[in-house]
Amino acid sequence: MSPISRRDLLASSLALSASSLLARSAWGRAAAMATGSSGAASAVEQGAIAPRERLLFDFGWKFQFGHGADPARDLGLGNGQRDFAKAGTFDFAKAKFDDSTWRTLNLPHDWAVELPFVHDEVLQGHGYKPLGRRYPETSVGWYRREFEIQASDLGRRISVEFDGAFRDVLVFVNGCFIGRNDNGYAPFSFDLTDFLSYGAKNYIVARVDASFGDGWFYEGAGIYRHVWLTKTDALHLGKWESVVRTELKGSTATLTLETVVQNEGLKPESASVEWQIIDAVGKPIPGFSGAGRSNPLQPDESASFTCVMTLPNPTLWSLDNPYLYTAIVTVKSNGKVRDAEQISFGVRTAVFDADKGFFLNGKSLKIQGTCNHQDHAGVGAALPDRLQWFRLGVLREMGCNAVRTSHNMPTPELVDACDRMGMMMMCETRQMSSSPEGMAQLEAMVKRYRNSPSIILWSVGNEENQLQNQMAEQGAKIAATMVRRCHELDPTRVVSAAVNGSNEKGVSEAFDIIGFNYNRAYPDDFHKKYPKRPIYGSETASAISTRGVYSTDPLRNTLSAYDVNHTAWSELAEEWWPFYATREWLAGGFAWTGFDYRGEPTPYGWPSINSQFGIVDMCGFPKDTFYYYKAWWRAEPSLHLFPHWNFEGREGDEIPVWVYSNLDEVELFVNGKSQGNQKVPPLGHVEWKVKYEPGVIEARASKNGKVLLTEKRETTGPTVAIRLTADRTEINADGEDVAILTVEALDKEGRAVPTANNLLSFKVSGAGALIGLGNGDPNCQDSDKGPVRSLFNGLAQAIVQSAKKPGEIHIEVVKEGWDGPELTPAKLVIVTKKVQPRPSVS
Ligand code: GAL
Repeated sequence: MSPISRRDLLASSLALSASSLLARSAWGRAAAMATGSSGAASAVEQGAIAPRERLLFDFGWKFQFGHGADPARDLGLGNGQRDFAKAGTFDFAKAKFDDSTWRTLNLPHDWAVELPFVHDEVLQGHGYKPLGRRYPETSVGWYRREFEIQASDLGRRISVEFDGAFRDVLVFVNGCFIGRNDNGYAPFSFDLTDFLSYGAKNYIVARVDASFGDGWFYEGAGIYRHVWLTKTDALHLGKWESVVRTELKGSTATLTLETVVQNEGLKPESASVEWQIIDAVGKPIPGFSGAGRSNPLQPDESASFTCVMTLPNPTLWSLDNPYLYTAIVTVKSNGKVRDAEQISFGVRTAVFDADKGFFLNGKSLKIQGTCNHQDHAGVGAALPDRLQWFRLGVLREMGCNAVRTSHNMPTPELVDACDRMGMMMMCETRQMSSSPEGMAQLEAMVKRYRNSPSIILWSVGNEENQLQNQMAEQGAKIAATMVRRCHELDPTRVVSAAVNGSNEKGVSEAFDIIGFNYNRAYPDDFHKKYPKRPIYGSETASAISTRGVYSTDPLRNTLSAYDVNHTAWSELAEEWWPFYATREWLAGGFAWTGFDYRGEPTPYGWPSINSQFGIVDMCGFPKDTFYYYKAWWRAEPSLHLFPHWNFEGREGDEIPVWVYSNLDEVELFVNGKSQGNQKVPPLGHVEWKVKYEPGVIEARASKNGKVLLTEKRETTGPTVAIRLTADRTEINADGEDVAILTVEALDKEGRAVPTANNLLSFKVSGAGALIGLGNGDPNCQDSDKGPVRSLFNGLAQAIVQSAKKPGEIHIEVVKEGWDGPELTPAKLVIVTKKVQPRPSVS
């Protein structure tokens, strides 16, 4: 095989440079990148090496609402039952159709987040957005795009690939119906080769119907993940068939490389496959290549290829050093390269032990996990790639080392960010079912992500109470079929599910490891009875709190931010974590949830529109419990003092003052007077009751008698200014990258005002646009799209996205709507720099 040089790699539009930069770095540097650079989408086009092309198909779509009940308002679809009678008859997917009145937008797009809130209790779970069959006028969306296919593409295989859309999609191209997809989370693709016009314009239309849903939580609506156009030779690699399995023995890794080649051409073709392994800086590992050959492949025939290699002294993938290797897989026929792709993989071991818990690379490690939905302030389910990095950065900051993708297959960019940042993942499919649809979703997930080192276990579902109880017999069979298929496709990982119950019957028998949701009464007994079965907390906590609020007030739908509230079925942070942390045999667990999310506004309903389970709010602003986890999940000395000290009108009242710290002792001072020293109980907190007087409270935390950390809260004056800061002030001018802005209220001495709730207006101009606003208030019904938003307890968030042309984005917070004293306007400039954009469809 002719070695592929670094130059070839770069020339073939790989994102290798970005990915390898990160892969070779330790977590500290990865975190810096997460805050210091785009982190965007390094791996999403990683599969493509020339002659294969993978083009981003996100820009310049037209959009219009259809109608779920009235064909006259749904482009005539369903008007008289003849829609699918003859091929080529869908005029809306032809040149002559006029979409000039449709809105132009870029993907990913979630129209649910743009809708107003509607007070209808049926909508509570999904955050009071008008979706479902009772809201036909806002439940169907049409996307349309003209695109060009070159004459030179004739003879290639061309597919459109959707990473996911919510939820039921019909796809049409050039007047022809192409196919449908009926779930909200699994990727789907269609081969368009025969339907395209070469050297001409083509038309694609997708009707997306969000009338049905899966979740009891907000799920979004529309094409909320990326779309791609992939072009390959007719002799090509099978989709998601290239696998690198690693087995580490001593200091040597055995790599088993597998792939499938398909001949979709018209004549027999000889095929050989070559593999080359590249290290994290893009250097081919010398002498490290392998090859396989098959008999000529007849048209429509495919062949499997396998190769085994040993890699001595590999650098292991770990949380601190998420080192990624790359396998280049090349298909040749008579010496000519016909197809190629690159696969990132890591060498690591992940072992669950029934006595000793979890081990990564042989080192004992508790899973300090959080469950999360894909949903963020301002943008809903349509997260720009960069936000995945931002959100993981927030979680990582509190010591979270694993995420569970509850309750569905994740977006590729989240898995990619975990691989590159050093975050473990429990990867969950949506439907627990061995039906063709359930199995197709499961297979897509396992095949798509089985090379990702971050994934340490597969989950085949969550809280399927019927299958655990009334239908236990069927549940056992369904789960066994799913587990078997996971093992066939990926013999390297364990399979589990999140079970709310005893795990004694139904689905649980089949699982390699046992997950308990809540119910701390079960694990001890289960462990005694089944000492050989590893156990972890698949879902824990569900503690509830509102950021920056220090009393529970049902009239205002708020919950105290002290760790004191949970629901009937759930538990406090300070209850579940000591339980899991002090039992060696428990592998750790996943707290519900890292981030607040829309829907499930527990325990209150309207006007609350989002959950309050998060350790951080919808924007990622920490609630106080964040610092409980930080104290006990991270090794560095830490200290957090709360509440704020702005209780005007409550002079003389007793206020609880709490401190989270992992040091030995903390002394509290109120206006310089000591309130006494307290020993910090292991995995707990310390607390005083203090008579409120304005001024300063201060905590001094010491270890071995030496004060190591101090923290203060001061009574502030009213808000006179706004401070705007950004996670990055320079972003890529690629039409995708975002800057995430924190908006804070300041008093005249420049101190953050933790109680400010003033209304602000945002003006964004120049080389980008405002794509979302949030403030973390579970009861705020301001539009996520702005331009007006109130602060919530001193904070708000704005997300601005670059245009493709480099320049400056000007953000100004102006006075309109301002209800406080005179405000100094706040301004910030984000520079967008020229970059090579990702190859995209023109
Ligand atoms: C669990 C469920 C989660 C969420 C949570 C709220 O039972 O798995 O999706 O609803 O309860 O506490």
